[in-house]
Amino acid sequence: MDARVSGTRLALELGDITEQRVDAIVNAANTTLLGGGGVDGAIHRRGGPAILEECKAIVARQGGCPTGEAVITTGGRLPARFVIHTVGPVWSGGRRGEDDLLAAAYRNSLRLASERDLTTIAFPSISTGAYRFPIERAAGIALSTVAGMLRAGGHHVAEVRFVLFTDYDLAVYHRALERLAQEERR
Ligand code: APR
Repeated sequence: MDARVSGTRLALELGDITEQRVDAIVNAANTTLLGGGGVDGAIHRRGGPAILEECKAIVARQGGCPTGEAVITTGGRLPARFVIHTVGPVWSGGRRGEDDLLAAAYRNSLRLASERDLTTIAFPSISTGAYRFPIERAAGIALSTVAGMLRAGGHHVAEVRFVLFTDYDLAVYHRALERLAQEERR
């Protein structure tokens, strides 16, 4: 399913984010930027050592990446040109600012992409794996944050893809996108 927000295609896909042929894919990283499991592990495995080398240089320069922030590196051997590494919040009940930090992770990733005039970007479902953020809640935050930024304009982003790893996750994002489309029509 896809929608259009202020001229930008917003698409949901079932698949592996490391296979996406886009300008940038977003990594669900951790604050050390030194790799992990899930999306992080898959990106470093497939992208090769060049990505980790650039992450280490960023760590040497600025320390790690705080939750909600984002950094950008080469895509290495990936089909994508760049990897935007962002750190989502660990879910701890919802009263520790997790919603705002998740929104910030999407916002800062999209900001980095538009600052570099990238036109296509693919997101995984940030924080909904090891970080245990409830996916229904995360999907609503992800889509409304990205749609809000696209409506604000000032970018050349032509397509934003959400790449889901399971049918269940895709169905959750599908429902969230339908809710967003209904709100747009109001
Ligand atoms: N492509 C797309 N989505 C994927 C892939 C993949 N190759 N692999 C996993 N996913 C999905 C998971 O099913 C989940 O829905 O990405 C979502 C995020 O899961 P995680 O990768 O566990 O990310 P997160 O919950 O943000 O936890 C981040 O896990 O891997 C470590 O270093 C990482 O400490 C960090 C933490």
